[in-house]
Amino acid sequence: MSERTLAIIKPDAVKKNVVGDIINRYEQAGLKPVAIKLIQMSQSVAEGFYAVHKARPFFGSLCSFMSSGPAVVLVLQGDNAIKKNRELMGATDPAKADAGTIRKAHGANIEFNAVHGSDSPETAQFEIGYFFPGMEIFS
Ligand code: CMP
Repeated sequence: MSERTLAIIKPDAVKKNVVGDIINRYEQAGLKPVAIKLIQMSQSVAEGFYAVHKARPFFGSLCSFMSSGPAVVLVLQGDNAIKKNRELMGATDPAKADAGTIRKAHGANIEFNAVHGSDSPETAQFEIGYFFPGMEIFS
């Protein structure tokens, strides 16, 4: 079933100049970017995005990292897009990620882990709407 997911190429990956490699991986896996932009989040925008993690000890540092430089936010569309993107990304901790995954290739550690992807249809709906009005999404 065709669905949409939100992906973020995080500030660490943008700094490393691997945006093209990561987008190529999405496309090769059949995920089509239907919305895309380069943005620098403020601390409060990052806090709103990750509000579900508010109580976690890493919340402050995660939001500082996410607002530390430009990031690419994208909507990816394709069959089983949410699950497929999570497989492409690999485990949250790059040290535990399978060979061939984006986090294995480009993540430094559990915080600076190169990419984000929605983890459920409900989350995808919230996350896509957080960054993109309907008129910026093409299909
Ligand atoms: P992401 O998929 O964007 O979702 C939440 C983010 O929090 C996660 O990737 C990591 O960047 C970060 N994160 C998760 N667990 C930890 C942790 N134990 N320590 C620091 N950062 C974490």
